[in-house]
Amino acid sequence: MRSPDIQGSSQSGASMKRTEIEIMDAEKVERIIDNHRCEPGSLIQILLDIQAELHWLPKEALAMVSEKLHVPMSRIQHTATFYKAFSLVPKGRHEINICMGTACHVRGAPRVLEVVQNLIGIQPGETDAEMKFSLGTVNCLGCCALGPVMEIDAERLGKLAPATTAGLLKGYD
Ligand code: FES
Repeated sequence: MRSPDIQGSSQSGASMKRTEIEIMDAEKVERIIDNHRCEPGSLIQILLDIQAELHWLPKEALAMVSEKLHVPMSRIQHTATFYKAFSLVPKGRHEINICMGTACHVRGAPRVLEVVQNLIGIQPGETDAEMKFSLGTVNCLGCCALGPVMEIDAERLGKLAPATTAGLLKGYD
């Protein structure tokens, strides 16, 4: 997992912040918080749900969480920056992680990474202009025998070959 930040606010302050994000997104965030009954003990799960819904944690969303849970923004920021599952910058609709661990590396991961980079036009740590893909690398996905391994969202794809890797990305919109 991983981590984020923002500031607490009065009702009028939060309303102003909500104008900075899409109204639909604000409604999604409100619904998520309400689903957890505004429970401070559900903070991490609320942030996970917002991350899953929006693909990142906009600071305006964190301000809404702070206001509705009555949790200081400093604590929310600490939580959001601590866990790797959270992103404070916008991410693509699909997250690609290519394993560059030793087992995958010796089985051709660098070539797989090169193919993916060329296909979607971004480097690890970047998101494409269409907000379709975010690309990253990891050190081990825990299934070394399947190397080289790539993870797209929750799906793990193993025994990759550079020649067939591009085709695996075609089904994503
Ligand atoms: S080194 Fe790639 S899955 Fe372990």
